[in-house]
Amino acid sequence: MLIKNSNKNILIVGGAGYIGSHMSAFLSRIGYTPIVLDDLSTGHRDAVLDAEFIEGSIADSALLDHIFSTRSIAAVMHFASFIQVGESVRLPEKYYQNNVANTLNLLIAMLKHKINKFIFSSTAAVYGEPHYTPIDENHPIKPINPYGCSKNMIEQVLADLMHAYSFQYAVLRYFNAAGADLSGKLCERHDPETHLIPLILQVANGQREDITIYGQDYPTPDGTCVRDYIHVTDLCDAHFKALSMLEAGEKCCIYNLGTGQGYSVKQVIDAAREITGCDISVKQGARREGDPAILVADATRAMRDLKWTPQYSDLKTIIQHAWKTYS
Ligand code: UFG
Repeated sequence: MLIKNSNKNILIVGGAGYIGSHMSAFLSRIGYTPIVLDDLSTGHRDAVLDAEFIEGSIADSALLDHIFSTRSIAAVMHFASFIQVGESVRLPEKYYQNNVANTLNLLIAMLKHKINKFIFSSTAAVYGEPHYTPIDENHPIKPINPYGCSKNMIEQVLADLMHAYSFQYAVLRYFNAAGADLSGKLCERHDPETHLIPLILQVANGQREDITIYGQDYPTPDGTCVRDYIHVTDLCDAHFKALSMLEAGEKCCIYNLGTGQGYSVKQVIDAAREITGCDISVKQGARREGDPAILVADATRAMRDLKWTPQYSDLKTIIQHAWKTYS
């Protein structure tokens, strides 16, 4: 039987967003006490199912002081980033303000209140254009857009904080987060939606006319881009295991989170046709700027160190779970 442990208050920054809301529900299920801080700029209040909710921003130092001085927080998980690569190229200052400056503000507040465990959502975008595939953590770090740069900057800040203080952190570099948890109560909702699987399912449920395939002339077996889709529940499990490592005394860890298995855009569309039973109408489009042909993780390190095995990340399960919330 799970026992609620009051020393297990975890602050989930961005806990009303896609991955953060799943993380909050996951922690709650296993006996932790998530506390969600979200400014609702992209998140949804109704995605916070079973946690205290505080509306506000990590830019607000007074609010952070209040939270940290009135609650005993064991660790902070940070999901409150802007994530659109294309937008980051058009509006870089927006990305550096939120993903870098505001995150630094959060870290400074943590130091002030002696909260020393931090789990950071990073991204495969820190690697930039792949030099080889699958990509392991030793791959050169060369982000090619402000989004990837902003994540890399915070990775650097974390390394320096660890050297200067008794500060512990985990950096988790996600590949393509997808799917939804089994409850059917949470889903991927971005506005505007830019991610492949939600867009395909919006075609299947009649919200959209068609899906445009961005480029069919890539050097891949069917000409469309290949990505490594990782189920959001498996991501949450990896976060929990990384938190456990920090609790056991590990000072820092950096992990790729993916499956090592890539699927092309066409394969994803075909799988969605099979699962939904809908004829998904497709348009051919030009390549989207900044899309590498293949992005597949070598996640051996996470699997070995965290004893983490993705359970739900085969493509059909991901689409089935996502479809439950779209249908
Ligand atoms: N795609 C289409 N049509 C669409 C949308 C996407 O063909 O309408 C293609 C993209 O070109 C890409 C694949 O589907 O090849 C997946 O695209 P997503 O937008 O779903 O995801 P990305 O791979 O672009 O982005 C993900 C994360 C980012 C992260 C990036 C790492 O969502 O946050 O991986 O490079 F930065």
